[in-house]
Amino acid sequence: MERTFIMVKPDGVQRNLVGEIVSRFEKKGLKLVYAEMTQVTEELASEHYAEHKDKPFFKDLVGFITSNPSFAMVWEGENAIAIGRKMMGATNPKDSEPGTIRGDYGLTVGKNVIHGSDSQESAEREIALFAGGKPFVDYEKDEDKWIY
Ligand code: PPS
Repeated sequence: MERTFIMVKPDGVQRNLVGEIVSRFEKKGLKLVYAEMTQVTEELASEHYAEHKDKPFFKDLVGFITSNPSFAMVWEGENAIAIGRKMMGATNPKDSEPGTIRGDYGLTVGKNVIHGSDSQESAEREIALFAGGKPFVDYEKDEDKWIY
C-alpha cells in the first residue's frame, strides 16, 4: 500500500472546500490515516518547497501557504500518489480538466486549492515533514473488499 501527502491550501480552507475534498478521496476508495488542521510556519514552508527556492514565485508561494491554516492529510491505497495527482488536476487551473479538484474549484496557479506529493520520494519527505513522529491510525475498512 502506498501513502501520499495531500494538503488543502489556505484558499481551500477559507472557501469551505475541506469537506468536499475529503469526500472525493473517501469516495475514490483511499483510506485516511492522518489529518490535521495546521498553521504552516515560514520555516516549514521553506523546507517543504525547498526545490523551488530559486523560482520567481517562491516568495509568493511561501507567503500564501503561511497566510492562513491549511488542512494536512495522509491518504493510503494502491497507487495513492498517482491517483491523488490525477484527482487534483494540472497545477495551473487553466490547464486542469473539469472533474478534477483544481479544474472544478481553481482559477489561478497562485491559489490552486490543493497540494499533493508528486513521487514516492516526495511523499516520504512530506509525510515526515508534516506528520513525522505523530501516530498514524491503523484500522481496517470493510469497504476495501469492494475496491481491491
Ligand atoms: S515548476 O516550475 O514546474 O517546478 O513548478 P510547479 O511544479 O509547477 O509548481 C511548484 C509549486 O509552486 C506553485 N506555483 C506557484 N505559486 C505561486 N505563483 C506562481 N506563479 C506559481 N507557479 C507554481 C505550484 O502550485 C506548486 O505548488 P504545490 O503546492 O506543489 O502545488
